Amino acid sequence: MKVNYISLGTGGNGSGGSNSIGSKMSLGKSIKMYLTIFIATTCIYMVLYQYHISREPFAAGEVVKHQEKSSSYIASYLWSPISLLLANSSFNNNSNSTPTTTTTSTTATTTTTTTTRTTSATVGSAGEKVGSSSSLQTVSLAAARPTLHTSLGTAQLRSGSVGGHRKTATTKQSITRTATKLTTTKATTMAKTTAKESAQTATPPATALSEHAHKTRPTFVAASKPPPLYIITPTYRRPEQLAELTRLGYTLKHVVNLLWLVIEDANHTNPLVAHTLDRIGVPYEYMVAPMPEKYKQTKRAKPRGVSNRNRGLEYLRHHANEGVLYFADDDNTYDISIFEQMRYINKVGMWPVGLVTKTGVSSPIIQEGKLVGYYDGWIGGRKYPVDMAGFAVSVKFLKERPNAQMPFKPGYEEDGFLRSLAPLDNTDIELLADECRDILTWHTQTKKNAPAQALNRTRYKNTNLEHIDKLLVRP
Ligand code: UGA
Ligand code: MN
Repeated sequence: MKVNYISLGTGGNGSGGSNSIGSKMSLGKSIKMYLTIFIATTCIYMVLYQYHISREPFAAGEVVKHQEKSSSYIASYLWSPISLLLANSSFNNNSNSTPTTTTTSTTATTTTTTTTRTTSATVGSAGEKVGSSSSLQTVSLAAARPTLHTSLGTAQLRSGSVGGHRKTATTKQSITRTATKLTTTKATTMAKTTAKESAQTATPPATALSEHAHKTRPTFVAASKPPPLYIITPTYRRPEQLAELTRLGYTLKHVVNLLWLVIEDANHTNPLVAHTLDRIGVPYEYMVAPMPEKYKQTKRAKPRGVSNRNRGLEYLRHHANEGVLYFADDDNTYDISIFEQMRYINKVGMWPVGLVTKTGVSSPIIQEGKLVGYYDGWIGGRKYPVDMAGFAVSVKFLKERPNAQMPFKPGYEEDGFLRSLAPLDNTDIELLADECRDILTWHTQTKKNAPAQALNRTRYKNTNLEHIDKLLVRP
């Protein structure tokens, strides 16, 4: 188009060479025409651009989509002829407040969908009215994440075997300090947000960003968060431990607004476990709760995972107010849709668990929409003959029962805990997994592996095997 105006202009000049008045007139006409066409074209251009903008609104909805839209919007704004006019208007606020957003979001978006979840969960816990900041923070997280992983890996592996929750916490803090931009990004942050200290680190940037976002684009808000999930996972040291946690962790990574309470039956935390949890990237809190000595010594069945789960309950009594808790053993299999269903439980929810006893499944029996009994290969006089993987409880409901806990009674852990939630009417039990017609959790059991044989240190000196060796479990 511009080429056309130029040829029109030069044509006018050339034809006015013979007569000076005519030349002046035609020159004047040319200039007029040129200006008219220029103004008209500019107007058309601006109208077209406005139309283009109106076709790409910021839809209120999913956070990742915001990011994509916002970046494409900003990109088109940059090539616009009215960019100067707009430079000080509303959009400037967005680009000013988060320079990293504009530069990194398009590339980062696809690779960090799950990371986004971590962040939005974190931000959500820190403050309700975060608005656009959650998606904006996601971008800087995405960009800086690889660095964080590296520092986590080395820091924690080198921290040696001296354990204790406090030790781990210190390591985490120092890492958070090193990664200056990542105030709210670390995997553990949601946990710490619940605890007061990190709520403080998470809040300031969120508030600062939301101030701008709210002034300018009221529709640019994060999706509302679903109720939080607290997943209590007992674990203990054995050759399969890191493999089990890895598998479960990546299942949980598909679930938003979740805090994973990993509680080890041990006296000290294990840096290798912490490292594995960091690598997975699900918000977690790692604690220890050893089985009391008297049970450890016994030749009879042990109350496995009981002190761990009671430690988890204690944590929730101090740090949680809403949402739902679920006991997820580290070796079971979980369909992620059960997590989305259990979030909305008001009191207690139940559903079938596959691979339990000779019946192949342990399940509530439902007739005409009502809970009429339980199906399980071993009833054992239990009021609630259900498996640990087959129920979840509302945090509020738990907190209204200050004495509720799990007994150290092998085989009766679930029953004892559910009984301790009295009063609990059968009609209050919500039946999930399509009213217990579907199986979404399985009591899978991993084959026990013998401890690895000792490494010949002379033969494999200065090889990678010296490093791998530190990851293995020996008697
Ligand atoms: C079955 C049930 O599914 C468990 O919920 C129940 O706790 C257990 O029986 C029991 O009553 O003893 P099962 O597969 O036999 O589970 O037990 P494990 O998977 O070996 O242990 C259950 C949980 O406790 C696991 O998450 C495991 O990591 C943990 N555990 C096990 C410990 O913390 N310490 C131990 O010494 C053993
Ligand atoms: Mn098991």
